[in-house]
Amino acid sequence: MKFYEIRSDLEKILLDFCDMQAATPVKSKAFKRLAERVRALSDAYTEDPAGMQTDVFSAEQMLKAYVLYYLPVNLVKLFPVLDELKGLPLFTKKYFTMLDLGCGPGTYTLGMLENIAAGTVLQKATTVRLFGIDREQQSARAAQKLTQDYVAGKKSTLRKEWQIRFTQGLLDPDVLRYERIPKCNLIMAGNVVNELDSERFGEFAVFLEQQLATNGAVIVLDPGTRASFRKLLKLKEEISTRTSLHLYAPCIQPGTCPLAADKKAWCHEKVFWKPPPVVQALDRLTGFTKEKGLKYSYFTFLKQPAGLRERFPKVEPGSIWRVISYVMKHKGENRLYVCNGQRRVLLRRLRRNTTPENADFDTASRGQLVWFEGGITRGPFLDITKESRFRIL
Ligand SMILES: C[S@@+](CC[C@H](N)C(=O)[O-])C[C@H]1O[C@@H](n2cnc3c(N)ncnc32)[C@H](O)[C@@H]1O
Repeated sequence: MKFYEIRSDLEKILLDFCDMQAATPVKSKAFKRLAERVRALSDAYTEDPAGMQTDVFSAEQMLKAYVLYYLPVNLVKLFPVLDELKGLPLFTKKYFTMLDLGCGPGTYTLGMLENIAAGTVLQKATTVRLFGIDREQQSARAAQKLTQDYVAGKKSTLRKEWQIRFTQGLLDPDVLRYERIPKCNLIMAGNVVNELDSERFGEFAVFLEQQLATNGAVIVLDPGTRASFRKLLKLKEEISTRTSLHLYAPCIQPGTCPLAADKKAWCHEKVFWKPPPVVQALDRLTGFTKEKGLKYSYFTFLKQPAGLRERFPKVEPGSIWRVISYVMKHKGENRLYVCNGQRRVLLRRLRRNTTPENADFDTASRGQLVWFEGGITRGPFLDITKESRFRIL
């Protein structure tokens, strides 16, 4: 299992923005107030998941609480999603343009910058253009400052020409067309889809396609809750039916999501990380447990016809699946849900049927890609038998 981290220099930039010190005592009034605001943000979102009310973000102190806590919590979810995309032509461009829709304080642009600083993407880029749009002026300003500070603090490693422009604006396809944003290699919509009018997802999907450069990618990432998943799924359907973009991940095969008809189930991933000290301290005060892993749901679409299955040329595409549950331990057997985008299957392996050829079954975890053959259908299960083979890819 991979553990992600954010860099200490990013944490320092976030602390500076919020006029806090790394050493601010947890028992101080300032820190306790911060924890109260983090809790208030959580309550606001729980009460109204479809729209963190405007005034929540326009209050400066609330924005700062968001920056210190939710920004790193959200940002790290981009890392595994980007890992799946690394190696694609969009990250080897000389000129790279990213658009962060509903950017908030620049969460996902900073996530991209963390990857550029780590040297895992855009090594060849000479010019990087970062655009972001948010309906909140305060958020757009925060994004402008945080990204500029990040780039300025890493002049020696981030030796590129930077153009950074975050503006206040609405994610209304009619309005977006007039923003004069060049074609983008990466368009990111993070934790915002749930706040948009789903009646206009069709137009939004067309905008995404038109705004995307050849070889470009769209990442739509959401909080990973049951409520938000329905809207995410609707946008996925609109992009699939109204555009010629290609679904890249998490589904292995394009098609109607097998969970679409199941109102109780939703597809989500979990990322594991080492939270920065300030998040750990806030967790102790709020009772939140971000160190246990963070849920999210996502879709990645590409302009070019490529799928995740092409990463494994030696494996028959029809036998690649994604794990969408944890290993459920029952008496004498383990169970696991896998999905290929068209079909969800409940795998079962009796403990007495464990062999070296299927031992990976016990260590499979949510989000991993797996390959298996030789399963036998028994009632609701597809049984992994002594003769079956099961491997984590
Ligand atoms: C939950 S925050 C997510 C911020 C950031 N992307 C992140 O993940 O941390 C949602 C953001 O979307 C913005 N937003 C919501 N509806 C919008 C709209 N119609 N047009 C532009 N921005 C919008 C809000 O102002 C807010 O900053």
